[in-house]
Amino acid sequence: MKPIKIDPVKSLRGDVVVPGDKSISHRALMLGAIAEGVTNIKNILDCDDCNYTAEALRSAGVSIEAGRGGAVVKGVGLFGLKKPEGAVNVGESGTSMRLLSGIFAGQRFDTVLIGKDALNRRPMNRIIEPLSLMGAAIDSAPGGYPPLAIKGSKLHSVSYRMQVPSAQVKSAILLAGLYADGTTVVEEGNITRDHTERALKHFGSDIEKDGLEIKIKGPGRLLAKDVEVPGDISSAAFLITCAVIIPGSSIRIKGVGMNPTRGGMLKVLSGMGAKIKLAGQKYGFEPSSDIIVESSRTKGIVIEKDILPSLIDELPAIFVVASLSEGTTVIKGAEELRVKETDRIVSMRENLSRMGACIKVDGSDIIIEGVRRLNGASLKSFGDHRTCMAMYIAALAAEGGSSIDDAGCVNKSFPRFFSEMEKILC
Ligand code: S3P
Repeated sequence: MKPIKIDPVKSLRGDVVVPGDKSISHRALMLGAIAEGVTNIKNILDCDDCNYTAEALRSAGVSIEAGRGGAVVKGVGLFGLKKPEGAVNVGESGTSMRLLSGIFAGQRFDTVLIGKDALNRRPMNRIIEPLSLMGAAIDSAPGGYPPLAIKGSKLHSVSYRMQVPSAQVKSAILLAGLYADGTTVVEEGNITRDHTERALKHFGSDIEKDGLEIKIKGPGRLLAKDVEVPGDISSAAFLITCAVIIPGSSIRIKGVGMNPTRGGMLKVLSGMGAKIKLAGQKYGFEPSSDIIVESSRTKGIVIEKDILPSLIDELPAIFVVASLSEGTTVIKGAEELRVKETDRIVSMRENLSRMGACIKVDGSDIIIEGVRRLNGASLKSFGDHRTCMAMYIAALAAEGGSSIDDAGCVNKSFPRFFSEMEKILC
């Protein structure tokens, strides 16, 4: 793919809509597939990752008709899935591989899940271990990497204390818990996004949450329920941070998901002095709101480890704001950034350093000294959608032109990223 060229802009202005939330779209498809009845999903995200989930479910015999921003899923019930013909390819989608493992582990047939490129370097032991404790039999490539050969098994409940703060791991266990005999208990160390819990409840599952403990009773039964997917705060993050750093900007992003377990970035940016307001709140099983952002001068902040799960995907955008803030920003204990589509500590540090930013890494702590300006540079996406979008906004705020080597990766979560940005660039 040809590099894209980016020139600095004067400001961002106007109203804009971001696409549906990726995490919620995956869950709506999966729960719709194993529910009884027909689920209509409004505003589902049409992106590579969610399309892999839909294809995986189709290969297991589920009818999913997608189009015009929605999808109709004809649920087959908990035990209605069929053995896919051949291996199921989930592309580069970690969410698809980890969550579907929880579902396929409890089937009466065997499944092989394969991935592409970066996914083959992402750790799967984090789900293999708890699912094995539930009676699942999963073989992986050496070291616990994809592909995964899952032998359908009779599962039993467990009490599991999470070893890593990961919503994907928690979700794999809860989905397997639907198939297990008895009550499965998951105890989190830090709260991670709770879309699976909310969606399971919405579809009628017997699930309870008490602080850091989640209990699900199996074997369960899900009943189809329509879902309206709010805009993705992780996609909105790039627009929000761009408006914060480019003077004279004022934008409104409509209908963005406001799940509190995803709200860390708004808190951090407000703590840095960003001008952010909410308007037009809606209270569904996943709340949403418009976000109004005006540019402002920001200052450095200390971001503690326990808040990281609520802004993990927004950290690349926060790196950019921190680089242009007054003083020092410290992000503590960010090791989970190393196991995303790329090592985002490396990708963000390398790119921003080329632009004149000052970033030090001490173990898994990141120390960013704000600079007065970033300079245009030749940048790399590392094949990672969020590195690419973060560097695009850094380039818009820089002095001088920049380029990004390969921007096709934005299709993973936000295919219309560049055209939506165009609408608000002045
Ligand atoms: C996701 C959880 C997070 C996040 C990913 C989507 C999900 O991953 O980074 O983009 O939908 O559950 P981890 O569970 O690995 O933290």
